[in-house]
Amino acid sequence: MKKVIKILGYLIGGLALIAVGFFAFVSLTWEKKFDAPYPTVSISSDSTVLARGQYLVYGPAHCATCHIDPNDYEAMSAGQLVPLAGGADLIIPPAHFRPRNLTPDKETGIGALTDEEVARVMRYGVGHDGRVIFPFMPFENMTEYDLNAIISFLRSQPPVNRKIEPTEYTFLGKAVIAAGLIKPIAPSSTPAKDMKQEASVVYGEYLANSVANCAGCHSPRDLKTGEFTGPKFSGGLAFEEVSGTFITPNLTPDPETGLLAKWTEASFIQRLKAGLVHEGTPMPWSSFAMMDEVDLKAIYMYLNSLPPTKNLVAQTVIRKETEE
Ligand code: HEC
Ligand code: HEC
Repeated sequence: MKKVIKILGYLIGGLALIAVGFFAFVSLTWEKKFDAPYPTVSISSDSTVLARGQYLVYGPAHCATCHIDPNDYEAMSAGQLVPLAGGADLIIPPAHFRPRNLTPDKETGIGALTDEEVARVMRYGVGHDGRVIFPFMPFENMTEYDLNAIISFLRSQPPVNRKIEPTEYTFLGKAVIAAGLIKPIAPSSTPAKDMKQEASVVYGEYLANSVANCAGCHSPRDLKTGEFTGPKFSGGLAFEEVSGTFITPNLTPDPETGLLAKWTEASFIQRLKAGLVHEGTPMPWSSFAMMDEVDLKAIYMYLNSLPPTKNLVAQTVIRKETEE
């Protein structure tokens, strides 16, 4: 009996040591600084460039969905250029994320950041302070033209003085950083200078993967690290939101389980233009509703060119039981 207690004692002591060690490891190592090159940026005041930047920011690249005040969503959905001054709270297990004020205000916005620092966040996922940024903004393969257009547009906006508190990580968030599970991103090859905006599979692939992040939500992933764990666009990723669980449908052309197999180009365009249907969904419908027809056609063509993947997502919206 005594022996058993002794062994148990060692075991518990050992476990406690491991726990303390892990806690110390995380506390000491999570504040890592990362290095990444600063992309070259050329700011323009050309009206075509600024119009492209505005279109991307409020439309397909949906910076606005995350970087505006949630009280302004309705105005944004109605087409107003509400300021990108921050104010949203993304509270998920790794952290309380607070998207930054992207107006050129010197004190509280990107006025304090260089163009190259902003570009580095987009291409490499490394913040101005060297922090690794969780994968909300996978713009690493954006064309040079589009990257320049976005930063040019942001710089052209009126500054709004609004202080946004820094992101606060939970222990889980710090642990995944300390363990090296969140890595900076990088372009998969030298980013294209520009791309023809036309109804083509190539342009659709670009939009769905490198601008609108359809791939990021409509694919199986590990939500703690963002790692892809199955075929892209096959759906099934579940988001726990306040009002219920939202599960992404399979966007591949699989005849039995793929959503796109049942939709015509016209119904696809009509659905995206219609915007938000299910209140509380994480999909940035209001931004995507601003996409023009050429872009939507290109995405439809690309999705239909994907290898069909069988993955049945029976229900995409599961509401919480509300207790009265
Ligand atoms: C899905 C939500 C989301 C979208 C879309 C998004 N952002 Fe962000 N952004 C965030 C969050 C969250 C942070 C704060 C991250 C942090 O503090 O770790 C952030 C931070 C930033 C930062 C500051 C990083 C730093 O150095 O501290 C910049 C610059 C930025 N975003 C630019 C953009 C641009 C430009 C776009 C559109 C092309 C965009 N974001 C789209 C969520 C988003
Ligand atoms: C931030 C996550 C997110 C992003 C980004 C996203 N989606 Fe979704 N999408 C969802 C979720 C969750 C649903 C299911 C709930 C709903 O219908 O709103 C959904 C539903 C859909 C539907 C089905 C709508 C219906 O009426 O049944 C289509 C089509 C769709 N997405 C296409 C796209 C396309 C195309 C893109 C890129 C341009 C995209 N999604 C980007 C999360 C996302």
